[in-house]
Amino acid sequence: MATADVVTGAFSYTGSFIARRLIAAGHQVRTLTNNPSPPPDLSDKVASAPLNFEDADSLVRFMRGADTLYNTYWIHSNYGADAFGAAVQRSKKLFAAARVAGIRRCVHLSIANPGASRHAYYTSKAELEEALRSAGMSYAIVRPTLVYGEGDVLINNIAWVLRHFPMFAIPGDGAYRLQPVHVEDVASIAVTAGLADGNIAVDAAGPDILRFEELVRLVHRALASRSVLLKTPPAVALAGARVAGFITKDALLTREQLDDLRAELLVSAEPPHGTIRFSEWLPRQRAALGRRYASARTRHEPRLVLTQGSQA
Ligand SMILES: NC(=O)c1ccc[n+]([C@@H]2O[C@H](COP(=O)([O-])OP(=O)(O)OC[C@H]3O[C@@H](n4cnc5c(N)ncnc54)[C@H](OP(=O)(O)O)[C@@H]3O)[C@@H](O)[C@H]2O)c1
Repeated sequence: MATADVVTGAFSYTGSFIARRLIAAGHQVRTLTNNPSPPPDLSDKVASAPLNFEDADSLVRFMRGADTLYNTYWIHSNYGADAFGAAVQRSKKLFAAARVAGIRRCVHLSIANPGASRHAYYTSKAELEEALRSAGMSYAIVRPTLVYGEGDVLINNIAWVLRHFPMFAIPGDGAYRLQPVHVEDVASIAVTAGLADGNIAVDAAGPDILRFEELVRLVHRALASRSVLLKTPPAVALAGARVAGFITKDALLTREQLDDLRAELLVSAEPPHGTIRFSEWLPRQRAALGRRYASARTRHEPRLVLTQGSQA
């Protein structure tokens, strides 16, 4: 009989790439999600149930008989009451349900360098890694840097600014580095980690380390953008991001994100496991990249109510 696995968020971003890899490897995939719109290629291949953290029994029933839980659940912005803290508490409930359901192994998506920042995104991720270590299952922690690929948020929105604004503010000297990783590489690293034994933590990082300015210039060139690239004090760039945020009704860049970017937290200290080169992927995206603004926040907003426990 085929191995069954559970992926949280298989109809959303990284989870959908993990699900496709598992299906291609002959696994059955189930998903816990509040996303009502499965990608067409997954709709009849992946059984789904609501990711309702307040209903532990239904989480357990749904996961029973599965081998590995691939957990991509997270909240991307610290909006509302203690959102990252709430994501930690909910994830702990998910781990507890997985253990009761007899899940053998949990592959958990965290972030590169979780202990290296005092900001809530990172401290919450570090707290959750600790919780997984004592959750009573074998585990693999996968720590991506900056995930890009078709449907991503950050690279798309850099392209969106370059397409729609006459000027692009590079915060500071732009010399700080980042190491983007393609979403297919993240999925491959996660599935390899799921099939391995033993408790591990592994970074998911791509083969190229780029300075921020270099990355922006690559996107600028790929789009043949006429936007003027201007190095500005970080405060000016943040003010510009706030102005764009009025248009998009989203936070394009927060001070915390900028601090962590400039501290090079999106660079791995490990040899890279990703193989897809940003500079080779980018030119193929010229037609679509940045045409529309992508909001991680509004993508998930309609689903907040159920996730927070007040039954919809
Ligand atoms: N994207 C990156 O650049 C990046 C970098 C480093 C680490 N990571 C980590 O990788 C994992 C997957 O990231 P992703 O970008 O692929 O995420 P995603 O697909 O946008 O979301 C992953 C999961 O979180 C749920 N979710 C997200 N925001 C939510 C909200 N506001 N309310 C309720 N549920 C919400 C989704 O629910 P539905 O199933 O209902 O959609 C889905 O189950 C996360 O742990 C993230 O921290 C991502």
